[in-house]
Amino acid sequence: MDIEELFDKISPHIPEKIFPDFINMICWYEEQQDKQKMPTLGFTNIPPPNLRFHVTGRPFLDFFLRSGNTTVCNLEQALEQIEKNFNLFENVLEFGCGCGRLTVWLEKYLKSKNFYGTDIDVEAISWCKNNLKFGTFDVNDALPPLKYQSDMFDLIYSYSVFTHLDEEHQFAWLAELKRITKSNGIVMLTIRGEEDHEKQCWSEGDKAELKEHGFLFRHSNLWSGFFPSWYQTAFHTKEYVMNNFSKYFDVLKYIPKGSKRIGQDIVILRKQ
Ligand SMILES: C[S@@+](CC[C@H](N)C(=O)[O-])C[C@H]1O[C@@H](n2cnc3c(N)ncnc32)[C@H](O)[C@@H]1O
Repeated sequence: MDIEELFDKISPHIPEKIFPDFINMICWYEEQQDKQKMPTLGFTNIPPPNLRFHVTGRPFLDFFLRSGNTTVCNLEQALEQIEKNFNLFENVLEFGCGCGRLTVWLEKYLKSKNFYGTDIDVEAISWCKNNLKFGTFDVNDALPPLKYQSDMFDLIYSYSVFTHLDEEHQFAWLAELKRITKSNGIVMLTIRGEEDHEKQCWSEGDKAELKEHGFLFRHSNLWSGFFPSWYQTAFHTKEYVMNNFSKYFDVLKYIPKGSKRIGQDIVILRKQ
């Protein structure tokens, strides 16, 4: 059993109180591993284990690279469904870019464009500023506004951010993303749908709440010691997305499990 498998097996059983210490210990171990692995990889700049943990829930280098690559392929495939690709957009924003897990794979498209990334994670953005020279990176607050002018972006993508927001933050951010998107511009984001919820074996009460309200927000052990209470785990039904996101944008596509690796649904929106 390798360390990734071992981590998956034992981490759900670590008591919440000592979970941050457990993660720090694994991060320390991974840092030692990085020193051996890094020279053999094509990348010179890869974020440290603690930042990798912030965006994937795991500190492992191989997982960080593998999952970033697959996710970018899935986002490309989603754009193909509306006959677009990353190359077609001039002004691009990643909302919730973290430490650039996706950005590093998009560099080939984004180098010649105006690329921006924003996140609440000060340490992650500091790493991006120092290491990803082709983009402009900013820290934002938990709630809008962003510093960007209105009608600025042709494409905003946001991977696994709305999967963590409570409803207040979700609606505030949908309105803000609408403000900064150009007319006919595209917003592509992911959510955790009903199928994903089924797989997670939540309680019957949770299942009933998701069915009834279409939205479920729950605190999770994994995120509790690290993130604020409004940033935890959120699930959406397709019906809820259709009824509510359409108050801000046209819903062009709802792609169930469009992100194949972890089964998030991809939603493609267009500003009128
Ligand atoms: C699961 S991580 C995904 C990061 C990145 N999109 C990726 O796929 O690697 C979610 C990210 O959303 C960021 N985030 C959460 N709430 C945010 C907010 N209100 N504004 C900007 N970023 C936010 C977190 O700090 C974190 O970096």
